Amino acid sequence: MSNNKTNFNEFRKKFTERIQNRIEDVFNTYGDGSCNLIEPMKYSCLNGSKYVRSLLVYATGSALNLDPELLDQPAVAIELTHTYTLIHDDLPCMDDDDIRRGSPSCHIAFDESSAVLAGDALQSLAFQILSQKKNDKISHETQLNWVNFFSNAIGLRGVAGGQYLDLAINNKDVDLKQLEKIYTLKTGNLIAPCIMLPYMLCKNYPEYSKEMLELGLSLGVCFQIKDDLLGYTSSSETLGKTSNKDEIRNQPNYVKLLGVDEAQKKLNEQKDFFNTKLKNLDFDKTIFAEISNYIFEREF
Ligand code: IPE
Ligand code: IPE
Ligand code: MG
Ligand code: MG
Repeated sequence: MSNNKTNFNEFRKKFTERIQNRIEDVFNTYGDGSCNLIEPMKYSCLNGSKYVRSLLVYATGSALNLDPELLDQPAVAIELTHTYTLIHDDLPCMDDDDIRRGSPSCHIAFDESSAVLAGDALQSLAFQILSQKKNDKISHETQLNWVNFFSNAIGLRGVAGGQYLDLAINNKDVDLKQLEKIYTLKTGNLIAPCIMLPYMLCKNYPEYSKEMLELGLSLGVCFQIKDDLLGYTSSSETLGKTSNKDEIRNQPNYVKLLGVDEAQKKLNEQKDFFNTKLKNLDFDKTIFAEISNYIFEREF
């Protein structure tokens, strides 16, 4: 096994365990047993995610020489929020998906109202975690910056707006430019915080904000194009969610517009472009480069 692969596997194992433990801690702290809403929340958050976003948080921290202790709050907040978006995304009024992470989706395992409320409560819990005073080395100003950036990223001008547009194009003709905008909004805006929230802890913040933000948004678009490809090339069993789903729903995506080969070519071009950005930020020889490479090469 090459050294890079060993580094990647060790990092992935270590920080996957870490994020799972931190999420469990949060549920142990906030779930006092008085309300069963905690059950669909736990079920959805601790049920087979790849935890790519928190791996990116810790990998950004590693590239920026930050202590992982400073990164637990952003990592947990991003994962809780990501899971909230997926719970809602699977609802019958949205993508109507019965399987998520290899198990029944939240609204199937529980019911629709529980799924809506579990998503709502996960979103607010994320901000509670992000704004909590837990570590003296994190200033109030940084926490305010986190909350301000993250609320913008997941709201009207970010994930929620992107999801709205994504549903609005169902059954319609769209071009690549419109798709890229939607992917930036709905997916890029949950990947960009994985870089921006750690960066906000650095002394040179906000000098490189523009570059860091662009790096995250472009990685998000690539993540979604890869997801489009996997929807056509992998089975539901491997993916842990319904493959070919966009075809079934007549939802435009990169493969529908370009075909598998051209979509893969487009992804390769975006990868080259992304790697140039990585190099410009001196991230190219870091674990961050390996985690992002995994996003391009993953099989589910
Ligand atoms: C799924 O994200 C949603 C998309 C943006 C395509 P992931 O593939 O990261 O989902 P989990 O957390 O590993 O299930
Ligand atoms: C998932 O998007 C939700 C967000 C990106 C916010 P998709 O609908 O494209 O992803 P899957 O295929 O359900 O995971
Ligand atoms: Mg969707
Ligand atoms: Mg979906």
